[in-house]
Amino acid sequence: MKTIAFFNNKGGVGKTSLVYHLAWMYADMGLPVVAADLDPQANLTSMFVDDDRLEALWPDDSHTKTIFGAIQPLLEGTGDIAVPHVEDIADNIGLLVGDLALSASEDELTSQWPDCLDRKPRAFRVLSAIWRVINEAAQQRDAALALIDVGPNLGAINRAALISAEHIVIPLAPDLYSLQGLRNLGPTLRRWRNEWSERRERNPVNDLSIPFGTMTPAGYVLMQHAVRLDRPVKAYDRWMVRIPAVYRQAVLDERAANGAQAISNDPHCLAALKHYRSLMPLAQDARKPMFFLKPADGAIGGHGKAVQDCYRDFRALARTIAERCGVQIP
Ligand SMILES: Nc1ncnc2c1ncn2[C@@H]1O[C@H](COP(=O)(O)OP(=O)(O)O)[C@@H](O)[C@H]1O
Ligand SMILES: [Mg+2]
Repeated sequence: MKTIAFFNNKGGVGKTSLVYHLAWMYADMGLPVVAADLDPQANLTSMFVDDDRLEALWPDDSHTKTIFGAIQPLLEGTGDIAVPHVEDIADNIGLLVGDLALSASEDELTSQWPDCLDRKPRAFRVLSAIWRVINEAAQQRDAALALIDVGPNLGAINRAALISAEHIVIPLAPDLYSLQGLRNLGPTLRRWRNEWSERRERNPVNDLSIPFGTMTPAGYVLMQHAVRLDRPVKAYDRWMVRIPAVYRQAVLDERAANGAQAISNDPHCLAALKHYRSLMPLAQDARKPMFFLKPADGAIGGHGKAVQDCYRDFRALARTIAERCGVQIP
């Protein structure tokens, strides 16, 4: 089973939309996937699940159907992880349901981190909980791939989520914030990887499966929707050409000539995704991915062509990511 996390410590770059659309695309390609909503804001869950079903998944004071519910017994000291509920979204898509209460695990995930150095069994159970839940969910669904969505920060939940990932894809916007974000994110990923590898070998519990913490950067996806229309295009070109060098330096820790480079020639650029301006609102209303919109959903006239382009773009991106991450497409 492969795990890929979509991460950027800046919000609003399109992480959640990317995970949602890629889950549908891999399912369409015949690859069963599990999508894990590890953002306590649970935006991914509300894209997949309608309000009536959400009410059933989030009853007052009960978390048995959410990802938080699966780790709750461990956090409360009443047991180890519970068998996770995997929400059936489609034939090939299972969802680990997000939960606002997940933010309550931040403290425990913070305090157990140093305890791993002291070889404390509980620390390893807590830090591996998210990874173990994702693995169980994937087993339940016979999924060879798990896609992880996280919130926009460098906190302890994200650290535990990201050490569960074999690969990291970084969605980026062509602006100053994204470039500065990369400069924080790159070194933080490296630090987490090193710190986990230092801890990993101290795991005293023989039969406990813990994550490898590989977190190999698979590349970035340039999200053009984040471009603001009230600024001239040139302003974005300026940031865009700096992305390849900053990515190399900050994320890959490679020496790079600090100059301009077209992202179209950058092997680390997985795709430059368009702003599907007219399709996104239709897709949200219809509760389906943009590339599955039909005339009955309002995708008429020029929208029809846009739907086809969108399908082609996401299919290409899904293939590229699969290749980079060693995922076999059936
Ligand atoms: N390719 C796209 N085309 C048009 N709008 C998009 C696209 N990707 C994301 N959006 C919109 O941008 C906003 C932020 O996206 P979201 O996926 O929630 O970002 P994040 O998870 O990084 O906070 C949402 O309103 C979403 O509908
Ligand atoms: Mg999000």
